[in-house]
Amino acid sequence: MNPQLRPLFEAATRPYVGAGTFAWHFARGKLRHDPVFFFLLRRGLLPDRESLLDLGCGRGILLSLLKAAKEQYQTGVWPRDWPVPPLNLGLRGIELSESRVRAARHALGDSARVDLRDLRDIDLPPCSVIVMIDVLFYLGREEQERLLDRAAAALAPGGLLVREADAGAGFAFRVTRWSENLAGALRGEFAQRLHYRSAVQWIAELAGRGLSVRVEPMSEGTPFANVLFVARKGFG
Ligand SMILES: C[S@@+](CC[C@H](N)C(=O)[O-])C[C@H]1O[C@@H](n2cnc3c(N)ncnc32)[C@H](O)[C@@H]1O
Repeated sequence: MNPQLRPLFEAATRPYVGAGTFAWHFARGKLRHDPVFFFLLRRGLLPDRESLLDLGCGRGILLSLLKAAKEQYQTGVWPRDWPVPPLNLGLRGIELSESRVRAARHALGDSARVDLRDLRDIDLPPCSVIVMIDVLFYLGREEQERLLDRAAAALAPGGLLVREADAGAGFAFRVTRWSENLAGALRGEFAQRLHYRSAVQWIAELAGRGLSVRVEPMSEGTPFANVLFVARKGFG
């Protein structure tokens, strides 16, 4: 890991110490190996106004990183060439798994609100940015479309940051799918049905809701076929 990132990494993962050994190791592994989290900060993709909704936030790793980023920046410990992180952005996560919500709440304290809710039947409040990292493929196709409708409507204006596997990416996609199926089996979820789409199909879904879309490869350092869709409503 780039030594400049070490203080931020430690500050974002330390709060998981009391959330159980697994949660702590998981947070450290995720932040170390998954490029998407630091990418959002390094590229300044998050606004600094109103609020962020992290849909399917899991254990709240992104929220913990944002909390740590604000604290580190304010104490003068920040990578030299990175933009200022969000300092005034409200943080809220929504998650279906009770144990993950517990871990997230433990790590985040009162710096973020984390609700135990099902994304399939929740109204989304107006916000400036919505993040969905590896979440949409857990929903059925129509459920994905309904959630995208609500997300696009909730942005006022703002950005929608969606990370998904690209089902059109050949072998790398098959590796991604095997790995998800294996992870599901290890959790005892053998009947889990995942619904993937190609990057081209995701772009069409986002553009069809009036969003401008840019695609960033998001698998660096991994064998996976992940991409980040940076979709915007109401910006030039
Ligand atoms: C692969 S994890 C990603 C977690 C988090 N976004 C991250 O990147 O660390 C997918 C998460 O989506 C959650 N999820 C799946 N279906 C959901 C639903 N219908 N409502 C809320 N959360 C859901 C799962 O419980 C899981 O925590």
